[in-house]
Formats: sequence, structure tokens, C-alpha cells
Amino acid sequence: MHKTINPNILYFGTPVVLIGTRNEDGSNNLAPMSSAWWLNASCMLGMSSRSQTVQNLLRERECVLNLPSEAQVSAVDRLALFTGRNPVPPTKAERGYRYEPDKFGIADLAIQPSELVRAPRVAECPVQLEATVAQIHPFEAPSSLVAIEVKIERVHIAEELLMDGEEHYIDPVKWKPLIMNFCHYFGLGGKVHPSRLASIFAPPARD
Ligand SMILES: Cc1cc2nc3c(=O)[nH]c(=O)nc-3n(C[C@H](O)[C@H](O)[C@H](O)COP(=O)(O)O)c2cc1C
Repeated sequence: MHKTINPNILYFGTPVVLIGTRNEDGSNNLAPMSSAWWLNASCMLGMSSRSQTVQNLLRERECVLNLPSEAQVSAVDRLALFTGRNPVPPTKAERGYRYEPDKFGIADLAIQPSELVRAPRVAECPVQLEATVAQIHPFEAPSSLVAIEVKIERVHIAEELLMDGEEHYIDPVKWKPLIMNFCHYFGLGGKVHPSRLASIFAPPARD
């Protein structure tokens, strides 16, 4: 039996991303978000244009998508309810957001310089994707949300996540993404079924 309900959020569970961007004065910003999905070498990010991150993306046109694993959950949560935007937009202030210029410091995460973009990587994140902005699509007015299409320019992966004996294949059994599910932090369960689609992306058989 299904019931018709009016939920206040529809956050059904997506991976957490720490977006590293560069502020106007050259300092670094870091923001947790989780409305993200990937297709080929592109990623679509859903964010409020009231965030410092979107302001930085509009100006700088580049970022790093740092993917925390379950192991970085405390650092992710330390970033919640902070913004790099000063003054704090009234709608954020009403929700308890405070201005914080040193996001890496409060999260106790280390800055790692990128190779192709000026935005920062997070040293502790096992996945770091350097990216450039392709297009920004506004949601229907009066929403402040935008969908940002970014192109992944360089992929950095912690070596221990690679398939045994493979240089370019990430082992899904080894990758433990942090999932935000209705604003709570979850991990993934294990594999539940063999996948026919996975055969398309499997490494070539070796003799
Ligand atoms: C785990 C987590 C996931 C979040 N997901 C999103 C999201 O998908 N989109 C968004 O606009 N804000 C999201 N937020 C809120 C942002 O972190 C917030 O807008 C913050 O102001 C961004 O920082 P900035 O203003 O310095 O860019 C999320 C926060 C947390 C802690």
C-alpha cells in the first residue's frame, strides 16, 4: 500500500562531494554538497547560487571535486552550516549558517595544490577530480538553484582503490563513498547482484 505524502526534502541518497574553489582574493573555499551525478567525463552539480562556491564557479570557471570516503565523515560534518560568503545571505543566516574564511582549517583537512586548475585539492580525499565549468543552467524562477555542468580534466585516485594489477580501473569493491541520505551520513552496503552492464567497462582480459 502506498501513501501520498508531502516530504520537505527528496534527498534519496547521493555521494558527498567537497568542492574546492578559489575565492576572489586568491584564498581557498571548500564546500560539502551532494547533488552530484556523473556521465562519461562530465558531472552535473546542483547548488544554490547563494553559496560562495557558485559565485566562485561563475567567476573562475574551475574547481576540484574531492570525494570523501566514509573515513572523512567527521571532517565533512565540521564544514556543515558554514559558508565562505561574507556577508552571509539572509536565508542562510536564518538557518544558522556562519561565515568561515578558513574552511580547510575548521575541517582539519590539508590543501594539496592541483595540477591543471587553481582550485585546491583535499589531500585526505581518495578521489580528486580537477574540473572546468562547461555550462550553468538556472532552475525555474524563483529558485536560487543552478545545475552546473563541469568537465573532468584530470582524475587523481588513491592507489589502494585500483583493481589489482590494473593502472586505470577503480575497484568498486574497494571504494567506500560517503552517501548523504535524507541529510544523514551513510556508507554503501556490499554488492547485491552481478551486473551485466559492468561487462562494458571491465578491463580487457589478459593472456
Ligand atoms: C553533506 C552535505 C551536503 C550538502 N549538499 C548540498 C547540495 O547538494 N547543494 C547545495 O546547494 N548545498 C548543499 N549543502 C549545503 C552547502 O554546504 C551550503 O550551501 C554551503 O553554504 C556551501 O558553502 P559555501 O557557501 O562556502 O559555498 C550540503 C551540506 C552538507 C553538509
